[in-house]
Amino acid sequence: MNKADVLLGLQWGDEGKGKIVDVLTPSYDIIARFQGGPNAGHTLEFNGIKHVLHTIPSGIFHPTAINIVGNGVVIDPVIFKKEIDALASLGVDVSAKLLISKRAHLILPTHRLIDAASEAAKGKNKIGSTLKGIGPTYMDKTGRNGLRIGDIETNEFKEKYNTLVEKHKQLLSFYNFDYNLSELEPTWFEAIESLKKLQFVDTEHYLNTAMQNGKKVLAEGAQGSLLDVDFGSYPFVTSSNTICAGACNGLGIAPNKIGNVIGIFKAYCTRVGSGPFPTELENETGEKIRQIGREFGSTTGRPRRTGWLDIPALKYAIMVNGVTELMMMKADILSDFNTIEVCTHYNHNGKVIDYLPYNIDAKYLTPITTPLKGWNVDLTQMDSKAKLPKELLEYVSYIEKAVNTPISIVSVGPDRSQTIRMK
Ligand code: IMP
Repeated sequence: MNKADVLLGLQWGDEGKGKIVDVLTPSYDIIARFQGGPNAGHTLEFNGIKHVLHTIPSGIFHPTAINIVGNGVVIDPVIFKKEIDALASLGVDVSAKLLISKRAHLILPTHRLIDAASEAAKGKNKIGSTLKGIGPTYMDKTGRNGLRIGDIETNEFKEKYNTLVEKHKQLLSFYNFDYNLSELEPTWFEAIESLKKLQFVDTEHYLNTAMQNGKKVLAEGAQGSLLDVDFGSYPFVTSSNTICAGACNGLGIAPNKIGNVIGIFKAYCTRVGSGPFPTELENETGEKIRQIGREFGSTTGRPRRTGWLDIPALKYAIMVNGVTELMMMKADILSDFNTIEVCTHYNHNGKVIDYLPYNIDAKYLTPITTPLKGWNVDLTQMDSKAKLPKELLEYVSYIEKAVNTPISIVSVGPDRSQTIRMK
């Protein structure tokens, strides 16, 4: 039986997972998303066109690969329909190659309203949620109130919907939040009708049988390990398990059937939304990284916070995921810097430590960085390891040594073709 490989982000999301899944898809038969929902924005670029996917796996542009939306994903039918329509306008017919788990939960219009109401009530302590209804939908899942894709096909669907919406209305009245549900519901139910044209499947059976038959599966993570609900910077996290174990829960693949774990990280760090960020640069350097790196959210358009690479945080993510190979993204963005700082340790309550502790709030922790020499050359036209500047190769070796894990790909631009294999 083949094992499934897992690809996930090791920072606060936006590492460039979409691009790499697209690059690796020719080596796989099945690409499967295992958690998150339309809070994600996976960007792919090829032939001069840029595509942003939110819920649909990033293997969808490959002619034969099967794409699975697993049970751990939460689906907003309205956003899902828009994604399918956008793909159709590019000539991509998803009907034969997109399968949705019957166990995946649905995001209702009221989940989005509760998300907005809850964030508004939190005031300055808000999470900085994408407001896509992710938290409230996972709350209903664990609270055993949720509505699933499989419910759409039952006669009780509307009744179940109404029961849940009544609960949500009570919650919204508690928040004293103004809304007009009748404006949102018709579009949602229309989108449910289009969803019905797709294949609803017991994806856990499908995947395990496929692996038994020698098919190669790549599980695609969303968000990043530092946004994991258990291991991220809680409460400033998303509501799912973004780490490797989430692929087991979110697809029905047993832990001993996991193969390679591919960890994606940027050559620096970014974060969007609130919460601690030890290496954040709230200065000109941070602004320069933001502008050169076009660090603005692909789902919300918000400016991303920027900072230097954080090695203790990277080591932590490698540990909780069991990462076997790393891929470093956006090396080209650092070409304009003579010196690149890397955080190697933290000063934590007066003590120097080299690991990510429980509380990473700036009150308790400051980064200790070391300067490395920049490469100062444009990387975007380079197409082989042999052409890479010595300083970049030194940067790569420095990280590999610090985290004791090999880097197999260095990305030097957003296009598929700007991908350098290091092996
Ligand atoms: P939520 O998942 O929309 O509730 O957002 C919770 C936190 O995770 C916020 O700080 C978001 O900005 C962040 N977040 C959610 N999805 C992504 C993503 O795909 N990339 C980066 N940050 C994300």
